[in-house]
Amino acid sequence: CGIVGYIGMRQAQDVLISGLAKLEYRGYDSAGVAVGDGACLAVRKKAGKLANLSGELEGAPLAGTLGIGHTRWATHGLPNDTNAHPHATEDGKIVIIHNGIIENYLSLKAGLIKRGHSFKSETDSEVLAHLIEEAYAGDLYEAVRTALGQVRGAYGIVVTHVDHREIVAARTVSPLVMGVGEGEMFLASDVPALLAYTRRMVFLHDGDMVVLHDDGYRVTDLAGNPVERAVDHIDWDAEAAEKGGFDTYMLKEIYEQPQALANTLIGRLHDETGEVNLDINLDPASFKRISIIACGTAFYAGLVGEYLIEQLARIPVEVDVASEYRYRSPLVSENTLAIVVSQSGETIDTLEALREAKKGGAKTLGVINAKGSSMTRELDDTLYIHAGPEIGVASTKAYTSMVSAFLLLSLWLARARGTLDEARAQELLHAARELPRLVEEALSPERVEKIKAVAEKYAHARDYLFLGRGVNAPTAFEGALKLKEISYIHAEGYAAGEMKHGPIALIDAHLPVVVVATESFLLEKTISNVQEVRARSGKVIALLSDGDTENAQHADDVLYVPHAHEMVSPVVNVVALQLLSYYTATALGKDVDKPRNLAKSVTVE
Ligand code: G6P
Repeated sequence: CGIVGYIGMRQAQDVLISGLAKLEYRGYDSAGVAVGDGACLAVRKKAGKLANLSGELEGAPLAGTLGIGHTRWATHGLPNDTNAHPHATEDGKIVIIHNGIIENYLSLKAGLIKRGHSFKSETDSEVLAHLIEEAYAGDLYEAVRTALGQVRGAYGIVVTHVDHREIVAARTVSPLVMGVGEGEMFLASDVPALLAYTRRMVFLHDGDMVVLHDDGYRVTDLAGNPVERAVDHIDWDAEAAEKGGFDTYMLKEIYEQPQALANTLIGRLHDETGEVNLDINLDPASFKRISIIACGTAFYAGLVGEYLIEQLARIPVEVDVASEYRYRSPLVSENTLAIVVSQSGETIDTLEALREAKKGGAKTLGVINAKGSSMTRELDDTLYIHAGPEIGVASTKAYTSMVSAFLLLSLWLARARGTLDEARAQELLHAARELPRLVEEALSPERVEKIKAVAEKYAHARDYLFLGRGVNAPTAFEGALKLKEISYIHAEGYAAGEMKHGPIALIDAHLPVVVVATESFLLEKTISNVQEVRARSGKVIALLSDGDTENAQHADDVLYVPHAHEMVSPVVNVVALQLLSYYTATALGKDVDKPRNLAKSVTVE
């Protein structure tokens, strides 16, 4: 979910709506605002996308210079007008917005009902409004503090009261950042919401509470003790978070990959010395085992990481989805390096898995995009991928940057452990440096046209199968994930050699099968799998290295990709699959930036 708050001299509604528009990727099944003018707090909320709400507000604007707003991604209660935030008390004096989950809300609610409170919504969040009302005795901050003392769970909460010109907020797991202006103050769940207004930002930590006034703020912990938090200057360009001429954020981000990769690699590979300098505050020679933990696309980046690290640095690696890792009593020790991979740095399952690894004594390292995010504050160290803000819900540039970060990590580990001979090390360093150029080449207009044509040809398929081997098995998994996320076509990604143990039963003349068959020591084996598909009348869409006319004969359609060293080829190959899913989704008229039921950053379990 996304939160925005404002207190100052501007019309709050404008700040809230513009900020929420930048946060819609965090969830968008309903939206709402509350605006205060000193005499009353007016609430407007609407199911559906933010445009529904902003359309209504255009016709009947809310006047006032203090306000809070929200875009929701439903956890408890359907995404309808009533369940949308903000939630107000019956007398309308207190208004709250809450992100996260109140785990003990049923018992709290039962108690409140017994004591005479009546509820309007089915949300867990509404109990907070009532608890604050109950605790209120003239001091809003104290009332919020008392209420939070009773709840168990995760929250980012923002509260205002008609009789006070202030906003009170607090966070545990859900992120909150404060924007510092001149005679005005801002609050949001993420930086892009505030960039148009200020670059001076304060990242709130777990357990922080804050009171915002027109001309300042005060941070405390939940016990009421004052806390110092630094003001950071954010140098991101506001333009960088806009679509910049592309139809969608996703397409813009696909095309940003050469730049994003350059940013990931920049300054970290040294030409003359051949050194890999990652500025990581951990001893690379001290690890006996590595655990990679992540969700979604980041998990597939981790699977490529497993190949790279085991191949190059010869350390045993296991990769887990975070929601499994955190509950399976993982075996870790001081010799374990737990690497968490996350674009947002906020995914709750990954954050909790990180805590689990720490509990067992593991050293922790993050491969993360979002600066100042929750995970980065708990990790021993972070290797930022520097991909820049990613807005499209389906991850693209963060994925390729994560994979490149793993290449760097595997070289760093291999160097320290002496597992690579000099010639091979130089070969890989060269391959890594080539990546931005190769991805640029993978995005050439002729290639994109061809991918678009193939996407349109098969856009009405009911299912899709994606196959790959070795370091490109995860490329197939990620290709399938992208397609189902944005086109809603059922797709499976499989290790090519495993196809015969199940998915082969699905093959008929209607099934397009995308096979990643670029240069590899396993290419012949992959081509055998292609033959197996052909023998059952499946339609083969082959991803081949430029110039491979021989294997082109076995395919119905060929997508050529630039030659790349096998170890870096997942970065180059996945670009074609991102575009394949993109043009399939647009051919079907789907909203690629906001696929149904998905959220960019999942801060609920
Ligand atoms: C959500 C997003 C995915 C993303 C995953 C992990 O499911 O829709 O695109 O891969 O979360 O997010 P993270 O921010 O931890 O990389």
